[in-house]
Amino acid sequence: MATIRPIHGYPDQMESTSPTLDVLGLGIVAVDDLLYVDEYPPADRKIRVRHRRRQCGGNTATALVAAARMGARCAYGGVLGDDELSRYVVETLAREGIDTSHGVVCDTAGCAHSTIIVDRKHNTRTIFSSVDHRVGAHPRLPEAAVIRAARVLLVDHHGLEGALRAVRIAREGGMHVVADFERDPGEPFGELASMVDHLVVSARFAREMTGQADPAIAARELWNDRREAVVVTCGEAGCWYLDHQMRGTAQHHAALAVEAVDTTGCGDVFHGVYAATLARGMLLDQRVRWASAAAALKAMRRGGQTGIPTTAAVEQFLRQ
Ligand SMILES: Nc1ncnc2c1ncn2[C@@H]1O[C@H](COP(=O)(O)OP(=O)(O)OP(=O)(O)O)[C@@H](O)[C@H]1O
Ligand SMILES: [Mg+2]
Repeated sequence: MATIRPIHGYPDQMESTSPTLDVLGLGIVAVDDLLYVDEYPPADRKIRVRHRRRQCGGNTATALVAAARMGARCAYGGVLGDDELSRYVVETLAREGIDTSHGVVCDTAGCAHSTIIVDRKHNTRTIFSSVDHRVGAHPRLPEAAVIRAARVLLVDHHGLEGALRAVRIAREGGMHVVADFERDPGEPFGELASMVDHLVVSARFAREMTGQADPAIAARELWNDRREAVVVTCGEAGCWYLDHQMRGTAQHHAALAVEAVDTTGCGDVFHGVYAATLARGMLLDQRVRWASAAAALKAMRRGGQTGIPTTAAVEQFLRQ
């Protein structure tokens, strides 16, 4: 049977809520080993790796790093293992100033681990992942007081039972919930997705959810009365966004034209900056503008998290 404990092993840390946290993330954390090659090889070839880098990744972890670099006070409250990779994640998040004291260590859990081959000629990434021990949100933790201490709750599609519990607590407390869903793992996904007030999904998943290939129409179909905003991101084609004032017509925001070298984590950065600017009280068009700029700046640099810009870099980029 699995045993669980708070990340640093001190039970009383579960009680210590920061009075005002900007963003609490509960979803997946991962370790990515990035291998940069000139060109992705056919089978049975030996090729040279030009550059190697280990990074903390995963939708929620990367989004939290992006939010923290925007100056948001962030915490991670999902499940990790007791292994070397999980410790690497905790150290990385701590270096970014992200509070991990509300996280839960479970001895049968671990983080997702991917080896990502970045093809420098075609600008593609091929991902080999081991996901057997990943968990995401815990079904009963963190305590409700920790969840209510945050302005924005960030969830993804990992640990659905826990995500649903946290979203219910958050919505009852009038908090915002930003979701980064990339697939529907089955029940209770439908209920969870319907309760989220800021649904930010890629065009690919929006099409899966609605059957609509047109992202503007998909955004409209994802709207419901509980939503504050729907954003459908389309990579270098920008994004479509909608709120209740737009009377059912999604608006387009073009991606910023940059020389992209590695788009790993662009979507996660978009979510993190969206959450941070939401916590700061920015309006939807400004949130989309900031999130797009940060994601474009990230695309110009190699690596998932190391390429994430600071708030000053985004401000300067937007001024230009
Ligand atoms: N090549 C690019 N140039 C400029 N901006 C980009 C580029 N790729 C992505 N972006 C920005 O990042 C946002 C999110 O990208 P995308 O739609 O690819 O997310 P995603 O599919 O969730 O990606 P991820 O695999 O990182 O989760 C886009 O809406 C856009 O603003
Ligand atoms: Mg994504």
